[in-house]
Amino acid sequence: MKFFLDTANIDEIKRIVDLGLVDGVTTNPTIISREGRDFEEVIKEICDLVPGPVSAEVIGLEADQMVEEARKLAQWADNVVVKIPMTEEGLKAVHILSQEGIKTNVTLIFSVTQALLAMKAGATYISPFVGRLEDIGTDAYQLIADLRQIIDFYGFDTEIIAASIRTAPHLQEVARCGAHIATIPGSLFPKLWSHPLTDNGIKDFLKDWEAFQNR
Ligand code: E4P
Repeated sequence: MKFFLDTANIDEIKRIVDLGLVDGVTTNPTIISREGRDFEEVIKEICDLVPGPVSAEVIGLEADQMVEEARKLAQWADNVVVKIPMTEEGLKAVHILSQEGIKTNVTLIFSVTQALLAMKAGATYISPFVGRLEDIGTDAYQLIADLRQIIDFYGFDTEIIAASIRTAPHLQEVARCGAHIATIPGSLFPKLWSHPLTDNGIKDFLKDWEAFQNR
């Protein structure tokens, strides 16, 4: 399973890259605006830090606007993936971009049919939003499992990025359901690696070692 970082914060990215845990990065307009910096500058910096795919989202809502933006974004770095919202216009844009060899990540996916259409249109990645589905009481894990089954059954090249991952159980469950990738906010990582029993174990071992040294 691949891990993408769901952040545009350079310090956060560097910290997790140093652990060897980063296969790519995803951003959206909210994530970019949090940094208060120039969009192009931030994306280029991330692309230099992380050799894997880096998603940058378009703002336009018409297919021709999305295609124009996408062509520009794709020139910023070789590893830029263009994030396109799941709409009729978005599908049209994905179809054009896939023919031009520009990689796309179709975002804001909440149903099997949306995902199926995105895959047929030529999406490189699809992003079902786990946390936002859970917010409205819908089973996001069944969606991920269904998508994985459909991809394997028909041999689609598209990969599932489980997005809107907010908790350790979210990650655990999407891993069980066969998501190819999970995109994880940097702030979640400490909760993934820490455990009170590990901390207590370290303390106990050191205490026993000191007692042994001072015997
Ligand atoms: C990433 O591709 C998504 O934009 C992001 O995971 C959304 O997360 P949120 O629902 O917590 O805002």
